[in-house]
Amino acid sequence: MPWRGVHAWSLTGLLLALCGSPTNPFEVTVNGASSEVGYGGTVLLNCSTSCPEANATGGLETSLSKEWVGRGPGWLSVRLRNITEPLSDILCYFSCFGKREVVTFRVLAYELPSPQLAISNPNTSCNQVVTINCSSAPSWPPGLKLRLRSSRWPLQPWAEGAVHLELMAREEDDGAEFTCEAQLSVGNRTLRRSSATTTLHVTYQPQMDDGSCPPSQNWTEGQDETLRCGARGNPPPLLECTKDGEPFPAGVLRPVTRAHAGTYLCQATNPLGTTVRSITVWVQYHDPDLVLLVLLPVVVAVALVAARVGYGVYYRKKKIRQYRLQERQKQLEMQVLRSKQDRAPLNDVGAAP
Ligand SMILES: *[C@@H]1O[C@H](CO)[C@@H](O)[C@H](O)[C@H]1NC(C)=O
Ligand SMILES: *[C@@H]1O[C@H](CO)[C@@H](O)[C@H](O)[C@H]1NC(C)=O
Ligand SMILES: *[C@@H]1O[C@H](CO)[C@@H](O)[C@H](O)[C@H]1NC(C)=O
Ligand SMILES: *[C@@H]1O[C@H](CO)[C@@H](O)[C@H](O)[C@H]1NC(C)=O
Ligand SMILES: *[C@@H]1O[C@H](CO)[C@@H](O)[C@H](O)[C@H]1NC(C)=O
Ligand SMILES: *[C@@H]1O[C@H](CO)[C@@H](O)[C@H](O)[C@H]1NC(C)=O
Ligand SMILES: *[C@@H]1O[C@H](CO)[C@@H](O)[C@H](O)[C@H]1NC(C)=O
Repeated sequence: MPWRGVHAWSLTGLLLALCGSPTNPFEVTVNGASSEVGYGGTVLLNCSTSCPEANATGGLETSLSKEWVGRGPGWLSVRLRNITEPLSDILCYFSCFGKREVVTFRVLAYELPSPQLAISNPNTSCNQVVTINCSSAPSWPPGLKLRLRSSRWPLQPWAEGAVHLELMAREEDDGAEFTCEAQLSVGNRTLRRSSATTTLHVTYQPQMDDGSCPPSQNWTEGQDETLRCGARGNPPPLLECTKDGEPFPAGVLRPVTRAHAGTYLCQATNPLGTTVRSITVWVQYHDPDLVLLVLLPVVVAVALVAARVGYGVYYRKKKIRQYRLQERQKQLEMQVLRSKQDRAPLNDVGAAP
């Protein structure tokens, strides 16, 4: 029903026209509309009015501690000291011919309050959503910038206003640290403050994979080896390995025998759960019995044959040499005999007296 809206509007206009008509218009002003000071700073105010009434009275309302500088006809001046409230509205009023006019003067004190960091659940488990808020007191002045600093990501740019973040907690986020930082530029100065640091704790159940716990391991007999198996988890899991029901601690060096071959079970436990993994260990060995049983007789037989053949050759050569020597001997004896027979007559002659 549009006519009703029109009616309401006209009524409001009429009321405004009736009540708002100033018979003696005057105004109240404060030098400047607002002021910005550092924490604990001081502001000097002069509030004055255009009221023509000579004895127009005014006053000031503030929760800040004030000190009168002076007052005169149509003006008053105060000094506000030690301003620690982040935001203060100071009311200055004057009465003029029975009318009262009020102005508001705003003082901002830039003591940066500690920015607030809120983490929905700093103790979380894997794959849970965590909400992180970096914010400041609601009354904070425009120009305040915030950022969420974390060991998990590179430094972010400053943002106007609060920073809200949701992240899915992962294993590697365990121990990640978060800090909320605030920055404000006042005049030529830059103020900064940080919240306390909060550490995210991410719990997760034991994990073993091919890297930390290879499913197949080759050992060599006679060498020192360890059963290689490790488990990650938060809280750190307790790892127990067994072979045929007997405890067999992983990571302990021990001399290997072929009896070590077989299947090992490793079980990692923390309050969030248990993970089991089996490992097959192969033991490589060179069997000395096999060498002795097969190779040695062959070697011996070969050696015997070789010796026999060698001796045969030697014996024949020796025989031949002996025969030749005997032949030579015979020849020599023959020569000696022959020469004796040749010389015999001479001897007889010589011997004859
Ligand atoms: C305050 O302002 C009035 C008029 O504007 C002036 O006459 C007066 O001297 C001022 N007072 C101070 C302390 O500056
Ligand atoms: C202010 O002056 C007017 C006359 O100009 C007078 O009627 C009134 O009583 C005075 N008020 C005070 C508080 O002195
Ligand atoms: C300023 O105010 C604060 C608290 O409001 C107080 O602790 C401090 O002593 C004051 N300083 C001065 C110089 O008055
Ligand atoms: C973070 O801020 C959002 C929105 O303001 C709010 O819904 C949520 O509850 C806050 N989380 C925490 C942990 O304060
Ligand atoms: C989170 O866990 C840590 C130890 O991991 C403990 O000191 C702290 O009290 C826990 N906080 C909460 C809120 O459960
Ligand atoms: C900052 O401003 C103040 C006055 O507002 C001045 O005294 C000071 O020298 C300035 N500092 C710099 C570094 O400009
Ligand atoms: C272990 O040895 C077997 C053969 O003996 C081989 O097939 C396997 O690849 C080896 N594994 C590793 C991890 O060396």
